[in-house]
Amino acid sequence: MAYPRISSFKTADAFRQRIAELGLNLPFDDEVRTGEAAPLARPIERERGRIGNRFCILPMEGWDGTEDGQPSDLTRRRWKNFGLSGAKLIWGGEAVAVRHDGRANPNQLVINDANLPSIAELRELLIRTHEEQVSSSDDLLIGLQLTHSGRFARPNQKAVPEPQIAYRHPLLDPRVKVTSDEAILSDDDLARLIDDFIEASRLAAQAGYTFVDIKHCHGYLGHEILSGFDRPGKYGGSLENRTRFLRDIVSGIRAVAPELEIAVRASLIDFMPFHPGADGTGEPELSEPYRYAFGGDGTGTGVDLEEPRQFLALLQELDIELVCSTVGSPYYNPHIQRPAIFPPSDGYQAPEDPLVGVARQIEITGALKQAFPDLIVVGSGYSYLQEWLPNVGQRAVTDGLVDSVGLGRMVLSYPDLPADVLAGHTLARKKICRTFSDCTTAPRNGMVSGCYPLDPFYKERPERERLVQLKTS
Ligand SMILES: Cc1cc2nc3c(=O)[nH]c(=O)nc-3n(C[C@H](O)[C@H](O)[C@H](O)COP(=O)(O)O)c2cc1C
Ligand code: SF4
Repeated sequence: MAYPRISSFKTADAFRQRIAELGLNLPFDDEVRTGEAAPLARPIERERGRIGNRFCILPMEGWDGTEDGQPSDLTRRRWKNFGLSGAKLIWGGEAVAVRHDGRANPNQLVINDANLPSIAELRELLIRTHEEQVSSSDDLLIGLQLTHSGRFARPNQKAVPEPQIAYRHPLLDPRVKVTSDEAILSDDDLARLIDDFIEASRLAAQAGYTFVDIKHCHGYLGHEILSGFDRPGKYGGSLENRTRFLRDIVSGIRAVAPELEIAVRASLIDFMPFHPGADGTGEPELSEPYRYAFGGDGTGTGVDLEEPRQFLALLQELDIELVCSTVGSPYYNPHIQRPAIFPPSDGYQAPEDPLVGVARQIEITGALKQAFPDLIVVGSGYSYLQEWLPNVGQRAVTDGLVDSVGLGRMVLSYPDLPADVLAGHTLARKKICRTFSDCTTAPRNGMVSGCYPLDPFYKERPERERLVQLKTS
């Protein structure tokens, strides 16, 4: 199925018309305002520190750390770009494993005593760049995302899954070569992992990060535990049990690092795994009811926000104020998580206009934000909007559907987009992410991630040629 390209909508009216044709309830302003009172420029005032504007950089790893889990020059370049973006909220930088066996790839960063100076340096570099190229860092909030990759761990070899799972899954087990219960983490294993998250958080505080994100998204372990409906024991079954992992981490962090803020990035809805159908278009892998989706309605492609609501209520009870909303997983339903016109090499052709995916994320985020107005909620999935991203983001903020507009892929291709929007500059069309998905295809094929089509730095790298060959073959 071919969908009209965003760049073909030359006027606000044309874009509006497309939204109407699709029957979407997508917030949209014809004009983007500038100046101090502009919706995207207004700070978020909080007791725990002001956040200077309404742009957030979402966490994005580059598969480019050293074997022992330290940043490389490529990692540092990305963090510098985050600093010069102009965004005042840096949500986690990138996924950092709390221990070696939880790495999603052998080049993921790992936080431990030995790596701490270089992980602290990333933050300092970001701040220095921000101060030199944007403005004061007094209203810049920076956290570190902590993770265990669980089912999707590949700590030692890029092509060899070493899954550690919360429960057996009929569709995902074969994808990561799970054939027995041996891969299941026991309750004792989880208790030890909780200690590792607490220790990692203590180190993050020591390195100067204002908050840690206890990652609960994208199919990684924290997220998988939330859907452990059938898991026996104290971490499975009831929602209370499925949130014990998070609650125990939070109480441990409060004891060892009372000043550190805690945040959660969560996939607030999920669909069943998709696969390419006969013509390459994505389709649900099962036609039966599906019981493994947190925030799902049992059909595998529908939404029920009851448990996500209870989850956010719990976060509030735990005195967690910062929440980043995302959906699904890049491994098994990328079209809902990263709406794109071109699929990554391990994906499938989009089964819906990617605008539908963008609108879905904005809608569920808005419904939850409105139910919990005191939470500071960051949204995701805006990059596909391309030229119209600021127009949609501004309206979403104005309507109270989100507090901060999270940017993922767009800052890989166009790092200073927030600064340009806030200054009222015309967007640089050549830098706008066109969702070619090369930043996902490259790591899926063992290469470092980056915007190969648009970023002059990555265009020059030898991997670009390999990517082109891969795509043409
Ligand atoms: C190359 C790449 C790396 C990513 N790494 C992470 C990560 O480390 N942690 C995380 O929570 N999300 C990660 N994501 C997901 C993004 O944060 C974001 O949710 C997603 O790209 C959708 O937002 P967008 O439409 O602005 O790109 C990554 C995405 C990409 C493209
Ligand atoms: S490779 Fe560049 S243009 Fe393509 S999706 Fe990634 S950031 Fe966007």
